[in-house]
Amino acid sequence: MEQTPKPGSLAAIYALFEERGALVDPGDGISQLEHALQSASLARKECRGDALIAACLLHDIGHMLEGVGGKHHEASGAVWLSRSFPPAVTEPIRLHAEAKRYLLTREPNYRDQLAEASLMSLEFQGGLMSKEELSAFEALPHHASAVHLRRIDDQAKEPEAESPRLESWRMLLARLMTA
Ligand SMILES: [Fe+2]
Repeated sequence: MEQTPKPGSLAAIYALFEERGALVDPGDGISQLEHALQSASLARKECRGDALIAACLLHDIGHMLEGVGGKHHEASGAVWLSRSFPPAVTEPIRLHAEAKRYLLTREPNYRDQLAEASLMSLEFQGGLMSKEELSAFEALPHHASAVHLRRIDDQAKEPEAESPRLESWRMLLARLMTA
C-alpha cells in the first residue's frame, strides 16, 4: 500500500504541486505552479540566498493546501512547512501578507504595483499599519526577507514567462531541510 508522504516533506511538496499546481488564481490569471516557478527564478536572478529562493518557491503552498481563496494561506503554508524547514524559509512565508500592509504604509506608491485582487484582500488582512505595527514588524528577524518575497510575489505573474522546472529546485530544497 502506498504511504501518504509526511506533511512538509519533499515528497509531499512535489505531490501537492503535481495534484494542485494547475489551479489558477483568478486574481493573478496564472497557475500556482507557474507563479511559484517564476517567483523562485526571480529570486535567483536577484542573487538572493537559498532560503529566500525556497521561500519564494513555496510561499503560496497554503493556497494548494486550502484551495485558492483560502483566507490564511500564509499561516497554513508556514505551519505545514515548519515541520521540515527552518524559520529563514517559513518566516518570510508567514509574513508575506503582512509585508503587503507594511509596504503600502511605508511606500504609498507601492499601491500602483498591486493587482486588484491584492488590494481587495487588504481590508480583510487589516488595512494599513499603525505606527506600533510598523515598529513591531521591523523588529521581526525575517521582516526584510518577507519584504523581498513580497516584491517578487507581485512581479511573478507574467503569463508568458519561461522558468526553470520544479525538478531543478529539488537539491536546493533538500539542502535546507531540517527533518
Ligand atoms: Fe504569491
